Amino acid sequence: MSSKPQPSDALVFFGATGDLAYKKIFPALQALVRRGRLDGPIVGVAKSGWALPQLVERARASVTEHGGLDEAAFAKLAAQLRYVDGDYNDAATFSQVREQLGGAKRPLHYLAIPPSMFPTVATRLLQSGLSLDARVVVEKPFGRDLASARDLNETLHKVFPEESIYRIDHYLGKEAVQNILYFRFANAFLEPILNRHYVENVQITMAESFGVKGRGKFYEETGVIRDVIQNHLLQVVSYLAMEAPSSTIPEAIRDEQAKVLRTVRPLSVDNMVRGQFKGYREEPGVAPDSFMATYAALRLCVDSWRWEGVPFYVRAGKSLAVTCTEVMVEFKNPPQVVFKEPAPSMGNYIRFRLSPNVTIALGARAKEHGERMIGTPVELSVVEEAAQGEAGRMEAYERLLGDAMIGDPTLFARQDVVEAAWAIVDPVIHGPSPMFEYEPGTWGPKEADRLTVDVGGWNTPI
Ligand code: BG6
Repeated sequence: MSSKPQPSDALVFFGATGDLAYKKIFPALQALVRRGRLDGPIVGVAKSGWALPQLVERARASVTEHGGLDEAAFAKLAAQLRYVDGDYNDAATFSQVREQLGGAKRPLHYLAIPPSMFPTVATRLLQSGLSLDARVVVEKPFGRDLASARDLNETLHKVFPEESIYRIDHYLGKEAVQNILYFRFANAFLEPILNRHYVENVQITMAESFGVKGRGKFYEETGVIRDVIQNHLLQVVSYLAMEAPSSTIPEAIRDEQAKVLRTVRPLSVDNMVRGQFKGYREEPGVAPDSFMATYAALRLCVDSWRWEGVPFYVRAGKSLAVTCTEVMVEFKNPPQVVFKEPAPSMGNYIRFRLSPNVTIALGARAKEHGERMIGTPVELSVVEEAAQGEAGRMEAYERLLGDAMIGDPTLFARQDVVEAAWAIVDPVIHGPSPMFEYEPGTWGPKEADRLTVDVGGWNTPI
């Protein structure tokens, strides 16, 4: 039997003054400290000309804005926080990190920095001896395409063995995303109908009503496909389409994810519509003639025994009409021979709302009151949670950082899964393809409608 992995005894996070730290990491750290899951030194590293008091203030502002300040937990967190200001390419920065770690021997290094900096930091960690008995957490996107994802992996492997690398895709840490998997395989009634015999199409929409929020420079390097489709949404596709894991061992889930993503046909331009919202080019950090997509709609073909012929539609965009991520599995209509009523535009479905509120609902039809045998759509609610969720609910970053600290890899993206996802989008991310402008606050370019004409159009979450 393999021995239980030793927990990490300190956390070092690079990019401590950045956007991700502000929005997600400090709130997760406060929550981990509150639950007693993090009690060693927490070292923030960045090059901002700051000192520790500024970082503590930043942390306080962050938790206040994102989730709420818990005075007692925050006081503990502040006492554990350290700060190193320095260049990632300077050996002295890493000596200071070592000093700040004190007696800690098994740090977890979290690279909350642009992927282009990963090789520099990984190499410096090796040279300074800080990679010894350490784990590393890297943020998506893992590479810019299939080839660079492989290069990046090679670079990381020169410093860390695979079992010490944790690739964060925070969607995997979301309760609602895990519930897709749970709901599918903890119930017996779904699996017999979740296939090409009964399912008409699957649609996944990730709409955000806001733009790039000052992240123009980052977005220019990524665009919507690298930012959320290659990772978050293809992970969701894998949970929806995969076969039942063969056992309860942690790797069984990731094995099935990799297998099903390998059956998704690499995209062609015909199966994609790209868009850019009006005004994107005026954002700070964005090129005035930028061709980066802020919207994309795709039709995916899953060439597997289970799904052959069932289109999986995926669309995501910034500056759209609402902020909402929703999955809709639409079933075929029953044959219209029993009741004399027109075929409904929407028959049976399963709806997974992943954010801002969390829902699992089943769409059905029931007879209307009265003499006539005609029906009306009803929705059976299985899970219904308000936008803020239940008090005490674990947010994705808290769960994932906590898991990485104790060495549980289940909810992290494995390299073969990452590569399979890149292989799907790789043919369309470099090549030229048309770009359609859309008005902010709309559902994106109307040209995307051509993808879903055969199934009666896009499902519009409300
Ligand atoms: C991030 C993307 O990974 O996910 C952002 O970089 C996006 O562009 C975000 O807004 C969405 O995640 P969530 O959890 O806030 O819905």
